[in-house]
Amino acid sequence: MPHRDRRQRALYTVPKLADYTQDTLTRETQRLLDALAAEGAEVKTEEQLRAFRDRWLARKNGIKTQINDLWLKAAPMEPRRAVGQVVNGLVTQVEDAVTQRASWVNTYGLIGAVLKEQDVPIEEARKQRFAAESLDVTLPGTRRSLGAEHPVIRTMNEIVGIFRNLGYSVGDGPEIESDYYNFESLNFPPNHPSRDTQDTLFLAGQEKRPQRERLLLRTHTSPVQVRTMEKHAPPVRMVIPGKVHRHDTADATHSPIFHQVEGLAVDRNITLCDLKGTLDHAMKELFGSGVKTRFFPSFFPFTEPSADVQVSCFKCGGKGCRICKQSGWIEVLGCGMVDPNVFEFVKQNGYDPAEVSGFAFGMGIERLAMLKFEIDDIQLFYQGDVRFLEQFA
Ligand code: PHE
Repeated sequence: MPHRDRRQRALYTVPKLADYTQDTLTRETQRLLDALAAEGAEVKTEEQLRAFRDRWLARKNGIKTQINDLWLKAAPMEPRRAVGQVVNGLVTQVEDAVTQRASWVNTYGLIGAVLKEQDVPIEEARKQRFAAESLDVTLPGTRRSLGAEHPVIRTMNEIVGIFRNLGYSVGDGPEIESDYYNFESLNFPPNHPSRDTQDTLFLAGQEKRPQRERLLLRTHTSPVQVRTMEKHAPPVRMVIPGKVHRHDTADATHSPIFHQVEGLAVDRNITLCDLKGTLDHAMKELFGSGVKTRFFPSFFPFTEPSADVQVSCFKCGGKGCRICKQSGWIEVLGCGMVDPNVFEFVKQNGYDPAEVSGFAFGMGIERLAMLKFEIDDIQLFYQGDVRFLEQFA
């Protein structure tokens, strides 16, 4: 093996110079550099590095010191200048060679030591390491997908935006609500069967409290109607988005937690015409200017008269399809004129039913989002499956 041979070769020593001719200087310089390169290449371990550094750079008797002493200091005056240049150049090269070898040992010494045990030549190890660490700069980078609005929030914002454009302000209210705001002030008398349609959870341990103070998870956003009227004297125009709770078993169209947007407009001379015009406009904004609306008599304790609003099917235009269940119409929200009994609760704040009138409406966001995006299972909104959600990004 070649490096065996090299090891057997006699160790380089710095000779005295017989003369200072250019020939001699060139020849001796070359011998020294050959020795430097050959010895450096043999250095693989920290220990060898230390020996190499000492041999070439040690202040006392290192080769660097020796060429200074034997070549430069021993030179007579006249060629000294030339010898000085040669020696200086050599010193720099010796120092560089030692530094370079030190960094090589730092980088490859460790794996070198390991691989030596496995008898892998160091050059091979270096190649393997380069191959393992090589970087394909043409590979595409890691892309992080951008977040996006959840379809429920997006629909909610869209609806709120439509009413903002009409001059409505936006409010909110507590999700944990008192019996008074959720039911009593909305004309659901205590123990009246009308409450059964909006069963919910009451907070535990409130038996000693008067019924109207008992806390529950609100079943609709309508309690913010009375809260709004307590805070603001008429006129008011307000939309309130929020989360609501019902004692419903989860299925493809029901969820015990869902979202609504409530609307309330109270002023002098507000009529059913205003209600119809406002909601007709809002539905055209939401589903496209081609849809028509129609109002069906309905019942809510807090509105009189009350109506359910239907839009003509935006998908089939009214001919009948899967979305409108072949009827051509889709029910989208509940509404009505604010019941005078509700105004009675806020009469002292300027809401005398003889003076003012108003309308209110409430819509389920999930239902509207399902229609708009043609989603047939409400549970998809809550499962957090990225494959579903990224369709709305
Ligand atoms: N709060 C009613 C519900 O949740 C909807 C509604 C709101 C009806 C306002 C009329 C007026 O069903």
